[in-house]
Amino acid sequence: MELVQDNLPPAAAFEITAEAPADIVAREALLDRAMGVNRKRKSSEKLRRGRLPAEGLVFVARDAVGRLVGTVRLWDVAVKLPISPSSGETGGGNAAALLLGPLAVDPCAKSAGIGSALMRHAIAEARRLGHGAIVLVGDEAYYGRFGFSSAATGRLAMPGPFEKHRLLALELEPGALAGAEGVIVATGRAAARLRRAAFDQSRYPRSSTAARTATSPPTCRRRPSACPA
Ligand SMILES: CC(C)(COP(=O)(O)OP(=O)(O)OC[C@H]1O[C@@H](n2cnc3c(N)ncnc32)[C@H](O)[C@@H]1OP(=O)(O)O)[C@@H](O)C(=O)NCCC(=O)NCCS
Repeated sequence: MELVQDNLPPAAAFEITAEAPADIVAREALLDRAMGVNRKRKSSEKLRRGRLPAEGLVFVARDAVGRLVGTVRLWDVAVKLPISPSSGETGGGNAAALLLGPLAVDPCAKSAGIGSALMRHAIAEARRLGHGAIVLVGDEAYYGRFGFSSAATGRLAMPGPFEKHRLLALELEPGALAGAEGVIVATGRAAARLRRAAFDQSRYPRSSTAARTATSPPTCRRRPSACPA
């Protein structure tokens, strides 16, 4: 837990903690307020839907009276590495990375340093946990201050529409994304609902519609016309 008060009046003090299950409703409401209800149409959402965030990398910011005023989560993904001369015809394999987002701060608490504190905390924890790189879709004008750039993402793509110049990365280990290419894929653990159904499927094969549905790869549940391509 980190209490952040530098350069802020006492009333603007906030702290960053791991998100608790009891924070989920407030976090979702904050995301709706900060980003609008269409936020789930983003391509990044395809890498999050039906998955749990990366272990130990889910944070919230609380104000002095405990209200949730900021959120950031990171997600396990993988990128394809090129074939190296030593790997012959078998391909270069995948490199693990993290997808950061959404990052959001309550509109009433903007420009108080909460977004920056969440970013710095998330990056430090990702580094401490041994992750090699973080990718995100966002404005370099904001994320550049934390070291993110498009230098290593030129040959990477999101699994849906995205603006190329907004796909940014930070290498926590130098060269972690060297030569990375192709569509970023989700590798995170299945969320509880999917895990439970997979368990049902293994116990009661073919007997459960829910299990059959949920053991399929996560898909967009909206009507196709409303989904990003
Ligand atoms: C982006 C966001 C997380 C920043 O949080 P914050 O707590 O206000 O950020 P900080 O206080 O650390 O930094 C504020 C500074 O960043 C700047 N900034 C914020 N968003 C920016 C952007 N998209 N591009 C460039 N600068 C930006 C602000 O103008 C401010 O500049 P200043 O210090 O010169 O006044 C917040 O504005 C937000 O929740 N926005 C809506 C959701 C969103 O766009 N999330 C990011 C995409 S996932």
